[in-house]
Amino acid sequence: MGFVGYTDVIAEGDTAIVYLGYNAMMHLKLCHGALTQTKRGGLRHSDIIGKKYGCRISTLSDKGYVYLLQPTPELWTLNLRHRTQILYFADISFITLQLELKPGSVVVESGTGSGSVSHAFARTIAPDGHLHTFEFHEQRAEKAREDFKDHGISHLVTVTHRDVLENGFGIDLSVDAVFLDLPCPWRALPHARKILKTSGGKICSFSPCIEQVQRTSEDLRSLGFTDVSTFECLQRNYENRTVVLPYPTLGKKPGAESTSQLAQDAVAKDAGSLNDTKSGDRQGASTDCGETQEKSETDPDGADVSFEASEAKKPRLCESEKKENKLHYPIKCAVPWKEMPGHTGYLTFGTLYLLPNESGV
Ligand SMILES: C[S@@+](CC[C@H](N)C(=O)[O-])C[C@H]1O[C@@H](n2cnc3c(N)ncnc32)[C@H](O)[C@@H]1O
Repeated sequence: MGFVGYTDVIAEGDTAIVYLGYNAMMHLKLCHGALTQTKRGGLRHSDIIGKKYGCRISTLSDKGYVYLLQPTPELWTLNLRHRTQILYFADISFITLQLELKPGSVVVESGTGSGSVSHAFARTIAPDGHLHTFEFHEQRAEKAREDFKDHGISHLVTVTHRDVLENGFGIDLSVDAVFLDLPCPWRALPHARKILKTSGGKICSFSPCIEQVQRTSEDLRSLGFTDVSTFECLQRNYENRTVVLPYPTLGKKPGAESTSQLAQDAVAKDAGSLNDTKSGDRQGASTDCGETQEKSETDPDGADVSFEASEAKKPRLCESEKKENKLHYPIKCAVPWKEMPGHTGYLTFGTLYLLPNESGV
């Protein structure tokens, strides 16, 4: 199964990700004889076991089908049952990079929460690293343990039910990195310092509020950590659009010879052959300012399928542009979403370098 490596064939006991359509997924633990209802129709697990990951499979409804995806930490983050607030991969990937995690790393995490970060860490440190994760909510710790066992990563993760703010980590280890996602992270810093290696041990604390960041940064410095810095990861999504633009005349009047004539000829030729191509009803609707929007279609099952119109698009001009007789052509461009996913939290990092016999405080 795919949490730490890829396998081809879906086996009994695997957790597969069922892709139902754009933004619609669920996870399924496969068990011979079981039947799961989805909004695309029922799925018999016996029909799935033995098939290849990535395949499309029909449901028990007339025209329904779904895709079966290999589970990965990224897909798990999108599909897990939230027992707490969780971190998503924009933050997780940055944390992994900054903590310099790699195969063989030994990492400490608290709290475990829903295990979103833990799954990603486990994959990064496999096959011979180890994650020690601490959670003071007993049921959450137990559920995380079950998940790690189900997902074939329990040999990489030890879950401990413990209040790390009150009692510290209680392990006699020198670890490569510590990750904290706790309400008062500064209270865990002295405990973290005791278990971090002194030759460049890394720490990261995730906090939603800037006051938590201030307190954490001050305490990191007074405990002898260096390179203390804070980041915020904001995800910026882009959409593919076709936009019709006037060709630049570079200061010359349209029609006059210019250094760009060759390029203009090429575009004109291109436009000619594009216009000869059947553009049909997939052609995007042009706005007056020349923007051509990609259409999105709905498949017979209702799944959203957006596609890049493969047929050529005729440039459509607004009236003022037609009068000026400007040359236009369609270009593909990436347009950022007008609204971005907002603030999740701040990531504060520090590094512990101490010389032998140096206390750092
Ligand atoms: C926001 S959640 C962590 C989510 C996790 N990073 C994820 O992405 O799934 C914070 C967790 O810390 C746990 N926690 C809070 N105080 C703690 C403490 N003193 N010791 C151990 N765990 C604690 C909470 O029970 C909660 O499950």
